[in-house]
Amino acid sequence: MNAMSANRVAIGTIDDIPRRGARCMKNGDMTIAVFRTVDDRIFALEDKCPHRNGPLSQGIVHDGCVTCPLHNWVISLETGTAQGADEGSTNTFPVRLEDGRIYLDLTCNFAAA
Ligand code: FES
Repeated sequence: MNAMSANRVAIGTIDDIPRRGARCMKNGDMTIAVFRTVDDRIFALEDKCPHRNGPLSQGIVHDGCVTCPLHNWVISLETGTAQGADEGSTNTFPVRLEDGRIYLDLTCNFAAA
């Protein structure tokens, strides 16, 4: 379970995001992609692939991961980490689902350099 801080904001309902899809929101210069899995879990990652900054929000969501649309790297939705032989991570954000409403914590969990 993610800890939430005072930076928590309500960003809509689970029905605003299609299953296996994503919805983007801006936080300053950063775009955050909020993903919904087929089993209605919600995750939030910076919309930037650790390979060459591809838009993860346009990727395919599967098995707790998203496949980047540019070169098919597979990124864990939970940790933001590239899977398999690829190396790198994208920033993640705590997100919580309460009674169908989505709360995003804008406190970024920065990826390791
Ligand atoms: S930019 Fe995502 S795999 Fe290349």
